[in-house]
Amino acid sequence: MNSDMNGISSVWTHATDIMVDHAEGCWFYGKSGDKYLDFTSGIGVTNTGHCHPKVVEAIKKQSEKLIFGQFNIVYHEPIVDLVNELKSVMPDGLDTFFFASSGAEAVEAAVKLAKHATGRPNVIVFNGSFHGRSHLTMAMTTSKTVYREGYQPLPGGIFVSPYPYSFYYGWDDDTTKAFAIKELKRTLSGQSQPDETAAIIIEPVLGEGGYVVPPAGFLQAVREICDEYGIMMIADEVQSGFCRTGKFFAVQHEDIKPDIMTMAKGLGSGMPISGIAYKKQLQKKWRTGTHGGTYSGNTMGCAAAAATVRVMKEEKLDENAAARGGQLMNRLKQLQAEYPVIGDVRGRGCMVATEFIKDGQPDSATSKAVIAAAREENMLMLGCGTYGNIIRWIPPLVISEDEMNDGLTRFENALKKVLG
Ligand SMILES: Cc1ncc(COP(=O)(O)O)c(C=O)c1O
Repeated sequence: MNSDMNGISSVWTHATDIMVDHAEGCWFYGKSGDKYLDFTSGIGVTNTGHCHPKVVEAIKKQSEKLIFGQFNIVYHEPIVDLVNELKSVMPDGLDTFFFASSGAEAVEAAVKLAKHATGRPNVIVFNGSFHGRSHLTMAMTTSKTVYREGYQPLPGGIFVSPYPYSFYYGWDDDTTKAFAIKELKRTLSGQSQPDETAAIIIEPVLGEGGYVVPPAGFLQAVREICDEYGIMMIADEVQSGFCRTGKFFAVQHEDIKPDIMTMAKGLGSGMPISGIAYKKQLQKKWRTGTHGGTYSGNTMGCAAAAATVRVMKEEKLDENAAARGGQLMNRLKQLQAEYPVIGDVRGRGCMVATEFIKDGQPDSATSKAVIAAAREENMLMLGCGTYGNIIRWIPPLVISEDEMNDGLTRFENALKKVLG
């Protein structure tokens, strides 16, 4: 650690030691004068690119008028504007909104609402999920033990069922789907009975746990099980939302209507804002005063988020994510044919994984070495997955065709460096 960093907690991990000065679009500009191609998007946050001029303008304008109108005390226009913008892009039926600051807080809010709406105590999560780092959301997170290490015991009432991860199991999609549905039903018989289950929460594309797209029909099966037993279906779209997968929300690929949806990350283009969207009929069960927070519905976050959604609509970032994602997958599949250590290439839109496997085992050494070699090519990438053997492709969604090719060339150079 640089001596200038004394006084900063070492609890954060760091993917790089870059001291950044400013950023624009898909590029970071370092203090050193170097320029870096950002394929991390701040872990899925800067979907509109770094410092999109329209988001910057909205933040500037709002900060000159009102930085903070605490929402338990006054109403303000940015929240009204944001709700109107969100209503135009939400899956049908999700028409009521609560806002917080982080993804974990959104998940906490969703669970609290589900508990009030059903009067039930438990939550079912899927293995490999990441839902946050607060105590409750840590208990809901099973993507890696590092998030729980030394913090146990964690809150109870959380039960885990397998995520349908075909490549991991080595099965075709139909077999994996049938297995995961059977196991979910078993969870409701063996761990948390339906009349004690408030919610089943699922990432419609598994994020931190490995960028896994569930087999077609699995989300619908979860929806049907929830309907059968009066359980709330919560879609955690914190990472997959806001055009990332080629639609505004990943549930829209299969026209799934969750009861509650969480959102954060891409919502504010970097301003800390998160939220939940839910069906209006649940509102009468969520008693006034039983939830909130100082920064809940914060003015600057709402202004940035309303501008973000407008940019996404105007620039059709969903369509760009789908087109650039197709370009990315095509080239990655060619590279997979050249480098058998790339065991799987999968994804949706610009939420794509390359999973590294050697002798049938997760190969985190190669995955980490390729990320490090890409860093030498001035390209920033992140890993994911329980075994750290997956590189996740998560560029800003304003990325051009040329920038995507540029990133793929740098990745190929990194592969050559590591694998020869
Ligand atoms: C699906 C999902 N849910 C929740 C969270 C937690 O969000 P935050 O880190 O903003 O608390 C994340 C963060 O990566 C996430 O990917």
